[in-house]
Amino acid sequence: MAMIEVPPDLNSVLDAAWEAVREIPGFLLEQEARFLGMAAACAPRAGSIVEIGSFKGKSAVMLAKVAAHYGLDPIVAIDPHNFNSSELKAHRVAPDASSYEEFLNTLRVAGVSDMVEVHRAYSNDIASDWSRPIRFLWIDGDHSYQGAKADFDGFSHHIVPEGIVAFHDALHEFPGPIRVFVEDVLRSDAFGAAGFVHSIGWAQFRPRDGASFHERRAFLARVAKRLIPLVEEDRPLHGLKKAHYKLNRARIPRSQIEPREWAAILKSVQAASPGIRF
Ligand SMILES: C[S@@+](CC[C@H](N)C(=O)[O-])C[C@H]1O[C@@H](n2cnc3c(N)ncnc32)[C@H](O)[C@@H]1O
Repeated sequence: MAMIEVPPDLNSVLDAAWEAVREIPGFLLEQEARFLGMAAACAPRAGSIVEIGSFKGKSAVMLAKVAAHYGLDPIVAIDPHNFNSSELKAHRVAPDASSYEEFLNTLRVAGVSDMVEVHRAYSNDIASDWSRPIRFLWIDGDHSYQGAKADFDGFSHHIVPEGIVAFHDALHEFPGPIRVFVEDVLRSDAFGAAGFVHSIGWAQFRPRDGASFHERRAFLARVAKRLIPLVEEDRPLHGLKKAHYKLNRARIPRSQIEPREWAAILKSVQAASPGIRF
């Protein structure tokens, strides 16, 4: 297995990227943005960084800033920018508005227009012709089960060994990301190290030795699967059901990962131990 290098300046690069990102409207917290930047910087092989769901560019700018600093290829950003997802309706965004102009303007202001390959399209349409290897697949588009499943199935077979897949909102009240993450990632021996950072569910693709991480993934799957029936109806939770959701979610380990921990987490088979903190 190739060594995963964590660049010595990564923390300051993440600080600077977050400064460029923090005022952009969107749904990404600082912890999550820093995780994205770290995953993008340290995925060990050549390949594209692919974002499904860009909205106004918050995560795209984070990824693009990091990619620019480390001389990586432009990131691929896929979004029809027509606000048809149930998630955005839940956030009460005007259904007839479009995020496209604001997205392009955000890229310009951040100075990363040339670091983003923009696809104003549905992920399915891009997936059908996609052939490039992927080092980091960031899924933040349609949060229905069918949507998240189609995104995973459409792109995950292009992830290079040791590349990363991450789902936003796996620990928020949406049916898709958590179910696909549990059923297709945590229960698959093709994946190795895995965890949660705030609402992001992430895993490393390890087709050769992912089985050695089985115990850790199985533990995460056991605690996380309890959320699936609570969110499957894709309706806001209230009362007892909401309390039940929060209680179960609180049992799922999640914490920020510092860049200095990241290489050890990804390369160590000891990460299979349920006791480990990440
Ligand atoms: C939660 S927002 C993305 C937030 C963004 N990553 C950020 O950092 O602010 C979800 C986005 O997914 C897009 N979307 C919904 N269905 C999609 C699909 N099938 N393919 C690509 N994007 C989709 C929506 O248009 C919306 O802009």
